[in-house]
Amino acid sequence: MKIAIIGGGPAGLYAAILLRKQRPLAEITVYERNRADDTFGFGVVFSDATLDNFEKYDPPSYRRITQEFAYWDDIAVHFRGTVHRVGGNGFCGCSRRKLLLILQERARELGVSLRFETEIDDESRFADADLIVLADGINSRFREKHIAHFEPEVDVRSNIFAWMGSTRPLDAFTFIFQETEWGPFIAHAYQYEAGRSTWIFETDPATFKRAGLEGLNERQSADRMAEIFGWFLEGHPLLTNRSMWRNFPMIRSRRWVKDNMVLLGDAKATAHFSIGSGTKLAMEDAIALTEAMEHAPTVGAALEQYEQGRREEVEKTQHAADVSLVWFEHVDRFWEFDPVQFAFGVMTRSKAITYDNLTLRAPDFVAEVDKAIARQVRAKGFNVDVEKPLAPMFQPMRLREMELANRAVVSPMCMYSAKEGVPTDFHFVHYGSRAIGGAGLIFTEMTCVGRDARITPGCTGLWNDEQEAAWRRIVDFVHANSAAKICLQLGHAGRKGATKLMWDGMDRPLEESGWDIVSASPIPYFPDSKMPREMDRAAMDAVKGAFAQAAERGERCGFDMLELHCAHGYLLASFISPLTNRRSDEYGGPIANRLRYPLEVFEAMRAAWPAHKPMSVRISATDWAEGGITGDDAVDIARAFAEAGVDLVDVSTGQTVRDAQPVYGRMFQTPFSDQVRNEARVATMCVGNITTSDQVNTILAAGRADLVALGRPHLVDPAFTLKAAAWYGADGVFCPPQYLPGKEQIFRNSVRDRQDFEDLKIKAKPKTRAELKAEAAKPLAAE
Ligand SMILES: Cc1cc2nc3c(=O)[nH]c(=O)nc-3n(C[C@H](O)[C@H](O)[C@H](O)COP(=O)(O)OP(=O)(O)OC[C@H]3O[C@@H](n4cnc5c(N)ncnc54)[C@H](O)[C@@H]3O)c2cc1C
Ligand SMILES: Cc1cc2nc3c(=O)[nH]c(=O)nc-3n(C[C@H](O)[C@H](O)[C@H](O)COP(=O)(O)O)c2cc1C
Repeated sequence: MKIAIIGGGPAGLYAAILLRKQRPLAEITVYERNRADDTFGFGVVFSDATLDNFEKYDPPSYRRITQEFAYWDDIAVHFRGTVHRVGGNGFCGCSRRKLLLILQERARELGVSLRFETEIDDESRFADADLIVLADGINSRFREKHIAHFEPEVDVRSNIFAWMGSTRPLDAFTFIFQETEWGPFIAHAYQYEAGRSTWIFETDPATFKRAGLEGLNERQSADRMAEIFGWFLEGHPLLTNRSMWRNFPMIRSRRWVKDNMVLLGDAKATAHFSIGSGTKLAMEDAIALTEAMEHAPTVGAALEQYEQGRREEVEKTQHAADVSLVWFEHVDRFWEFDPVQFAFGVMTRSKAITYDNLTLRAPDFVAEVDKAIARQVRAKGFNVDVEKPLAPMFQPMRLREMELANRAVVSPMCMYSAKEGVPTDFHFVHYGSRAIGGAGLIFTEMTCVGRDARITPGCTGLWNDEQEAAWRRIVDFVHANSAAKICLQLGHAGRKGATKLMWDGMDRPLEESGWDIVSASPIPYFPDSKMPREMDRAAMDAVKGAFAQAAERGERCGFDMLELHCAHGYLLASFISPLTNRRSDEYGGPIANRLRYPLEVFEAMRAAWPAHKPMSVRISATDWAEGGITGDDAVDIARAFAEAGVDLVDVSTGQTVRDAQPVYGRMFQTPFSDQVRNEARVATMCVGNITTSDQVNTILAAGRADLVALGRPHLVDPAFTLKAAAWYGADGVFCPPQYLPGKEQIFRNSVRDRQDFEDLKIKAKPKTRAELKAEAAKPLAAE
């Protein structure tokens, strides 16, 4: 077999090593345009898990690599004169140059032919090769040459960064967030061998300009960085090596394989440096390719298997990198945070590390975070314990005069079980049991302001006395038997009205006994949905009046809070999104116009609703669709509602148009809540695939939301909050006297269960290489 590899970086060299081990008779040649020791950059970083992989696939190179490594366990966050250290991270650094020399040496030993100073610009010279590996890096000429086939998507990020080095020793992966007269600068720094550390500097384009970095040469810009970070460098110089300031390109390719050619490493996909995974991904691609070549009958089948098998892992890493880079791009959002909360945000930014996980590794750090949050709550007039604070989920909160006992919320969820809009026994039991279950706040399902405002024939309403009486009974039960507050969500279905019950076909039009529907513009939801009528002034006034009347009825029912539903493509959302609003009057066009009617409705409700009671608005913070609402629009929308008197923005997303492309995942909507909360400076509630109390605490502790709503988890577990309270020892959680024996039991058992769980986790956790190295270096204890 003949294999040509273009590019002698980590991907190309490691692929050459592994493929040659697998096929000792194969003729494998690596073509590299640079000289053998002519490498750029400083150190690379690997996690312990990646090193385990290297050990498995090629022990000799693993041993040589690890001999050269600098190990560390801690991450240190320097911010506004403070430093917070968190251990147990298990990372290693190595010189990129040494890594490449080790891989070259190992490849040679195995009989790989290495051709340096050989630039390849055409694959036709490899016509007789069975396999051509395109490992030609981030600016891959071959990816670009076959652009129509590989279809790369290049997202050039806004922040500007440069890779430098220093002799400054470091005993932790170090993040420094530095305020300057020009704006914030960030250093990501780690040691990779004795006396050498990598320094990546990053800043936003405006700060870059203000700092006068434009037009400076490498040395001058290094001097500018040395001035800014001089206090930390302690006289150590900054070193340069092709240390140009650049924008990071996030690259994703639709295809990785063309005939017998395959993209590997940075050539196919990149991952932002802030999660230190570029070299790891490149070398693990080589592992995946070799695995596929082992098992598949032909090269073609192997390449297909490589792409299919590897894509999910790469995309997951890229997603984590995306979330992380966005955090760094928006660091100014958190600049006013308490430093320990800021550091918690750094640690948990890409979702892999959580509150519980940090509690195991760095209990003192988490205790400090809890205290900082308790102090903020105390400053709002609550008499909470600051020395031994409860977990963030169990901190109280106030909106106007409504006090919530904790931050867990039952999200609004249609039950499709009403009769002519009247809530039934099902609703009574449903809301009642969730209130008893301990959540601080319960939302009603979208309750419609008129018969024709309903989504389905099973939706609840609040336009007549019978409905009002049924709701009053539910509210009274909640108030009499729980500590929960209850919020009425009012809405109008708009163009998604007159549709079937969820279990008969979500959003599908009713075949019989439907009703006339209205929307901002006459655009049906499905092509075969009923055509909505564009609302005229009279219809707008009538619906606005219906919202205000329903708010008055809500007050008579005794609801504690009121929410206006402006999300998910329903009537008011259809005004806000440009995808569903094509109006040419003063309610269409720019965002300020599209918001006009929803704000008019909000103001009418606010006037009808008692001033001491809070109001929220649910928005879709993105349409997940080209030309639709984005996170930046959501900030403007939130600001407009805040000015109109909203107390909380309930941040959901999507469901506006059929062809949306949502990116699902754990806590997938939380970044939008984070953006709205910390840019518009308004209290938010987040929701969406949040399933554990650990996630709830992580979100709250990082300041990404003020309240956390859970929908589906509450459908199967009304006592979600009570159980979480037992886990975190929050024994002040409300429990009705009838259920106290159950509460006592779960609280007693939880102490032991939690201890067992933590012991197990600690026992199951292998020692990091840094810990092993430290142990080996310790002198034997005297007998
Ligand atoms: C200037 C620079 C500095 C970096 N510094 C660091 C760092 O300090 N730490 C870190 O962790 N990561 C660093 N990175 C990123 C990291 O190196 C990559 O994520 C990782 O190296 C990807 O490996 P790769 O093999 O896919 O690509 P690369 O390492 O980029 O290797 C591609 C190789 O292909 C060669 N090549 C390209 N085109 C041709 C051609 N037509 N013919 C022949 N040869 C060709 C290139 O010369 C290069 O050696 C740096 C990247 C750059 C560009
Ligand atoms: C059955 C069901 C009904 C829903 N009904 C409503 C509703 O009436 N109003 C609303 O704003 N959101 C509604 N939603 C959305 C939820 O409030 C929540 O935002 C969504 O389920 C994501 O949260 P989760 O992942 O915790 O379930 C509904 C969701 C489900 C699953």
